[in-house]
Amino acid sequence: DDLERLADDIRRAETVVALTGAGISAPSGVPTFRGDDGVWDRFDEGQFAYGRFQRDPAGFWADRVDLQQELFGDDPDPNAAHEALAAMGHAGALEAICTQNTDGLHGVAADTVTAEAAESATATTTILELHGNAQRVRCQDCGSRRDSEPILERAAAGDLPPTCDCGGVFKPDVVLFGEQLPGAAIQRARSLARESDVFLAIGSSLRVQPAASLPQLAAETDATVGIVNLDSTPYDSLADVVYREDVTTVLPRLRELVAE
Ligand code: OAD
Repeated sequence: DDLERLADDIRRAETVVALTGAGISAPSGVPTFRGDDGVWDRFDEGQFAYGRFQRDPAGFWADRVDLQQELFGDDPDPNAAHEALAAMGHAGALEAICTQNTDGLHGVAADTVTAEAAESATATTTILELHGNAQRVRCQDCGSRRDSEPILERAAAGDLPPTCDCGGVFKPDVVLFGEQLPGAAIQRARSLARESDVFLAIGSSLRVQPAASLPQLAAETDATVGIVNLDSTPYDSLADVVYREDVTTVLPRLRELVAE
């Protein structure tokens, strides 16, 4: 079937690249932004924009505490889809994961696979966190990074906005609306997409640029493009295969087929 053909392409490919979005973490209990019961139906996107942070960092942080609780309050762990990608990476079948997620779960899954592996020499998959990582905060003055947990606790206790020892204001180490993506990361993601022989877009509505345009770059250079997403996306028509199925169904099967 289609999935066997995709697995064949992956086995033959020199460069396989995945782009992931909130849908891959949904089975871990992290709510998505759009689609059924999406976070942006319940929270106002504008409250989390860079302009708001600059104008009103105290108010921003008070709301941000609620958003982080909503997103990561259940202390999510990687699921079978993150694990399948980590295993493919470990087996040398996945060059890079470009993710729009800020939950850090691809990194956790990769560390787990590496730790459990008997042999020491393993392939490593590049993980590009295009929207940053919400498990960290960054001081806007001195640039130092910290774990977000104690900072969120301070903010929740009314220390608003939370500041660094140097006096600078902390910001979640994520890309806010209205803020530029880290230039080096998006450049790297673009060249990976262009280089790829197989490009997989997984669990993303593909509605937020510039990440959403990566499948198009891949298609322009004749990569096989596969999309796995419950809802349709604006790029479905350029994909070679589209699976409107759960990521935890498709990816473990794909991983098994690739390993055969
Ligand atoms: P979205 O919330 O826009 O899209 C998630 C997609 O995942 C939806 O289209 C769902 O159909 C699909 N989905 C949900 N559960 C799934 C499952 N179990 N299996 C397969 N598909 C599933 O998330 P993103 O595309 O990641 O930006 O959103 C992109 C960006 O918009 C986010 O990074 C965030 C947001 O505003 C910033 O914060 C800058």
